[in-house]
Order: sequence, then structure tokens, then C-alpha cells
Amino acid sequence: MENLKQRKRLLSIAGVIAVFIFISIQFTGPKVANPAVKNTFKGPAAVEQIFKKACYDCHSNETDLAWYDKIAPISWKVANDVANARSRFNFSQWNDLSEAEQETKLWYIVNMIGQGKMPLKSYVALHPSARVSKEELALLKTFVISYSAEKAMKKKGLKVVTMHNETDIKLQQPVALNGVAYSGDYKNWEVISTTNRFDNGTMRIIYGNAITVKAIKEGRINPWPEGSVIVKVVWNKSAEDENGEVRTGDFNNAQFMVKNSKKFKSTEGWGFARFSGQKLLAYGKM
Ligand code: HEC
Repeated sequence: MENLKQRKRLLSIAGVIAVFIFISIQFTGPKVANPAVKNTFKGPAAVEQIFKKACYDCHSNETDLAWYDKIAPISWKVANDVANARSRFNFSQWNDLSEAEQETKLWYIVNMIGQGKMPLKSYVALHPSARVSKEELALLKTFVISYSAEKAMKKKGLKVVTMHNETDIKLQQPVALNGVAYSGDYKNWEVISTTNRFDNGTMRIIYGNAITVKAIKEGRINPWPEGSVIVKVVWNKSAEDENGEVRTGDFNNAQFMVKNSKKFKSTEGWGFARFSGQKLLAYGKM
């Protein structure tokens, strides 16, 4: 009996000591501070959004830690990872890098994500929403490819000038058979992405209405909110002019995607339409 009592006492003393040590270490070790953001990375909204959710906790001065990241000893590893990650590259100081360094880094970034090395596995285990999906990786690749292509054209002395030849488009509002109407309003919207197709000689600009842009910024795109409208405008490329500049040439077509779950129930909640050529002819006979 005596023996059992003694053992219980020893155990509770050990417990008190453990709690004391746990509390004490909370006051030790490195802490993460957020220095000023000076030359932050700027890109299409969708690209920025992926980097923000997946990389910014470590590779930026906008580290936003969860409560469990701040508990020692986890906090020691987190602080160490952040310091190490910022020393490699820091999105908040992106424009301190030369253009060539930025381009190399962007490819490195896409490769690290593609190989599953970034974001760090230990981090994704605790922050599952930071995982970069296949679709997001594809979007980053498209972005980096067109970024590099533009740089290459610049190097050759070709200037890429993207213009909106809106004067060429007659102000009319055709409607596709499914009820999706053309509207030139997209010219006032935010550009959410751009792509080049050097294979078929077109340049594309993708616009989102206010609902779309807000959803991207808040990461609420699965599913996209009702009222989202995404417009992809395709321009032919002009031949080089005498200054070696390549511009968007003739308007080719505008593709609309409108989210309205009731109206477009049979096509998974989206209404699609394409308006082609100077006459903005709605595509399709059905
Ligand atoms: C939990 C912190 C953390 C997150 C989140 C994180 N990284 Fe890292 N990253 C690191 C650390 C630490 C290193 C350096 C050590 C290493 O290479 O393993 C690093 C290194 C890198 C490197 C190599 C840089 C160089 O020049 O050596 C690249 C590229 C990179 N990360 C990209 C990314 C991208 C892209 C994301 C988001 C998709 C991301 N990382 C998210 C911690 C992080």
C-alpha cells in the first residue's frame, strides 16, 4: 500500500515538472517577426493567390501563423523554416532581384512544386489548404511559360505591347442561343490572367468581373460564386512593325463563362458562349 502511494506521488511530481518545463519553454526560442513589405511580387490575381496561400507563410514578410505554430517546440521549427525560406527568396522583396533572377526563380518555383518538394511536407500536414492542386500548378506553368516567352521576345528587341482594339469592335450586344449576352463591360474589369499561344499566333487576356476577382482573392472558387463571369478575349498577333514591335492585331473572339446554377443547370451551372470576328457572331446553331 505504502509503495503504491509513493509511486502516485512521484508521478504527480513528474507531471508538475513536465507542465512547468512546457510553460517555461514557451518563453524561449526564436520568434517570427514581419519586416516591412517593400518590393512585393506582382502578377495575375490567380497566380498571386496561389503563392499567398501556399508559400507566403515562409517566403514572405507576411507570415500569418496559426495558433499551433506558436507553441514551443513547434514554434522553434517554424521560426527556423521561415528564416531559412526568406534567406532563399522572399516574395516581399521580389523586385530586388534582377529580371533574369526572377525568371530563373519562377522556373525553380514551378519545378519545386511539381516535384512535391514545396510547400514543405511538414507544413502541409498541419496546413492542408496550402497544398497546390494540379490545376493550380498548370496555371502557374502557363504563367511562367508566357512570362519567359515575353522576356525572350524583348531580348530579341521585340516589344510586346498588349492593346485593346475596342474601337474595332462595333458596339452591339449579340446574344448566344443559350441566353449568354455579349457585353463590352469586361474592358473595365480586372485582368486575372494572360496567355500566349505562339503556336497559333494569338494572345489572350482573361478578365473577371468583381464577383470573380473577389472570389479569387478570398480563395472561394470551388465552387465559384453565383454571378461570376469570366471572359477570355483572343487577339491575333500583328506582324512585327518597323520598330520590331509585336502588338495585338485584329480581334479574334471573346469567350464568356457565366455562373448561374438555375439558368444553366444542364451545363453544370455555367453558360458558355463565344462571339467571333468583327461582327461578334455567336458560335453554334443549337
Ligand atoms: C513551411 C515553410 C515553407 C513553405 C510554406 C514553403 N517553403 Fe519553400 N523553402 C522553405 C525552406 C526552409 C527552404 C530552404 C531549405 C530547403 O531547400 O529545403 C525552401 C526553399 C525553397 C526553394 C529553393 C530556393 C533556393 O534558391 O534555394 C524554392 C524554389 C521554394 N522553397 C519554393 C517554394 C514555393 C513555390 C512555395 C509555395 C508553393 C514554398 N516554397 C513554400 C520553406 C518553405
